[in-house]
Amino acid sequence: MPDTLQDKIAIVTGASSGIGEATARALAGAGARVVLAARRTDRLDALRAEIEGSGGSALAVTTDVTDRGAVEALASRTLEAFGRIDILINNAGIMLLSPIRRLMVDEWDRMIEVNVRGALYCIASVLPAMLEQGAGHIVNVSSVAGRRPMPSGTIYSATKFALRAVSQGIHLELSASDKIRVTDIEPGVVATELTDHITDEETGRRFEENWKTKEALGATDVADAILYAVGAPHRVNVNEILVRPTDQAT
Ligand SMILES: NC(=O)c1ccc[n+]([C@@H]2O[C@H](COP(=O)([O-])OP(=O)(O)OC[C@H]3O[C@@H](n4cnc5c(N)ncnc54)[C@H](OP(=O)(O)O)[C@@H]3O)[C@@H](O)[C@H]2O)c1
Repeated sequence: MPDTLQDKIAIVTGASSGIGEATARALAGAGARVVLAARRTDRLDALRAEIEGSGGSALAVTTDVTDRGAVEALASRTLEAFGRIDILINNAGIMLLSPIRRLMVDEWDRMIEVNVRGALYCIASVLPAMLEQGAGHIVNVSSVAGRRPMPSGTIYSATKFALRAVSQGIHLELSASDKIRVTDIEPGVVATELTDHITDEETGRRFEENWKTKEALGATDVADAILYAVGAPHRVNVNEILVRPTDQAT
């Protein structure tokens, strides 16, 4: 357990399930004070109670990352409660897979709203504090899909390519000059609720069929990778981590 996270202040978006929930738990276990953000208040409250019950420190702030005012309020609440923001785990996301020829444009829009615009709002809300502090760490949860498109995942991939570009740009513009560290996390298939929201039945069925006999990553596997990056000494800027299940070929 890296002791460098003791009393660090970390905002985790998408903390109500999957990778975000596992990461919030891992950060709290390493001594960080975690601010839990997502839309499902009941899930956030349950996680806050669990973390506090184990002797950790957590604050739950119901947040829709597509609402800029709500995201600004998340940062303000964090600063009021803890006085600084050391880490942003920019993790909230949706994956609405469908063949591009079906033109499910409303779902394309929703992915762009959450995965790109929402992630950018979160970055904008924490950067002023990080720049003033002269330190901060932004962890963007992109995907292996941010390196290459996958069938029925063209627009999802586009959102993750965009996030990866933002990670690279932050490194270029803010790491050496302002001591803002940035990590792009690129998981392969992780067993979470992410695929539950796919509405294209054929795509959902094919995905399920394909993974029936294979072992996906668990959310804690990705949380471990994130913990490694944020727990590294300040001179170390872990810029990218690509982590696939052993069973995943592409
Ligand atoms: N699972 C995978 O195979 C995989 C692989 C690579 C990358 N990823 C990425 O990992 C991230 C986390 O996904 P997951 O796999 O852990 O899936 P998940 O269990 O479905 O978690 C997604 C999280 O995002 C939150 N979220 C969705 N829309 C939101 C909004 N508008 N405002 C605030 N929060 C919102 C959800 O919370 P609420 O519904 O409560 O708001 C939930 O906590 C995503 O960015 C995903 O693209 C996942």
